[in-house]
Amino acid sequence: MKGVYDILRLLYHKKNIMNVLEGNYITKIYGKEDNKVVALDDFSIEIEEGEFIGVMGSSGSGKTTLLNVLSGLDNADSGSIIINGNNIGELNKDELALFKRRNLGFVFQEFKLLDSLSLQENIMLPMILDKREPQSMKLRAKEIMSLFDIYKLKDKYPWNVSGGQQQRAAIARAVINEPAILFADEPTGNLDSKSTRVIMNYISKMNKELGSTILMVTHDPFAASYCDRVIFIEDGKLSIEMMKKGDKKNFLGDIIHALSLSGGAVDEI
Ligand SMILES: Nc1ncnc2c1ncn2[C@@H]1O[C@H](COP(=O)(O)OP(=O)(O)OP(=O)(O)O)[C@@H](O)[C@H]1O
Ligand SMILES: [Mg+2]
Repeated sequence: MKGVYDILRLLYHKKNIMNVLEGNYITKIYGKEDNKVVALDDFSIEIEEGEFIGVMGSSGSGKTTLLNVLSGLDNADSGSIIINGNNIGELNKDELALFKRRNLGFVFQEFKLLDSLSLQENIMLPMILDKREPQSMKLRAKEIMSLFDIYKLKDKYPWNVSGGQQQRAAIARAVINEPAILFADEPTGNLDSKSTRVIMNYISKMNKELGSTILMVTHDPFAASYCDRVIFIEDGKLSIEMMKKGDKKNFLGDIIHALSLSGGAVDEI
């Protein structure tokens, strides 16, 4: 049973914290002196609970760095990151690891599946770490793998399946525990249009029905059109911010227009 203190804290939390995620004045620098790269330059962002945000921008603009720093996977050189009211810079290593496992899901640009585990084992990993009951884990894994059309590959290893199949397994692993916040780096980068639709519909459903907050990097205007807000990054700074007005189709037009203004990237479509 919850104590009075816990209930007060929950009420306080609900009332005062509109932003589920805040990055304040973040700077991230790689390398030193002549090799110095300012990947994020005094970057600030506020994300409300239940928002679905797309991050776009040219290669090397700082999108992956932003996701890594906001999710606590990497440290910023300066600035603060507040998730659910927790300043993640103030959590110790164990607290941060537990917090991430309970609240956050990650889809990495390069998948990061474990080669020694089958696809099904990779996908069940977050549930195994949470000591969930084996039968319910298998059922949940089957449900999500079937939906993503990779159930027939459940006993294969990552090196035995295609890039698109690995990517769908990586997404399944990230969403299996229904995280409160999902960080997805190019989740449809290796997928054909049919799989892209399946994945985007699933992520969108998670956002609408479970209220998950989503931060998704993408080069694909179609994927970005599912978002409520799209931000463009150039040289580690926010360059354009667009809110969805009207439907997905209108937003797709607006995004393509913004891409054409930001130069070149529209040629990739
Ligand atoms: N580990 C690293 N060491 C040194 N420089 C890095 C490192 N990671 C990223 N960078 C540099 O920081 C900048 C931002 O990189 P980042 O990976 O965030 O870009 P990105 O927008 O995700 O690009 P892409 O669309 O190609 O994935 C780039 O100039 C990149 O070369
Ligand atoms: Mg990247």
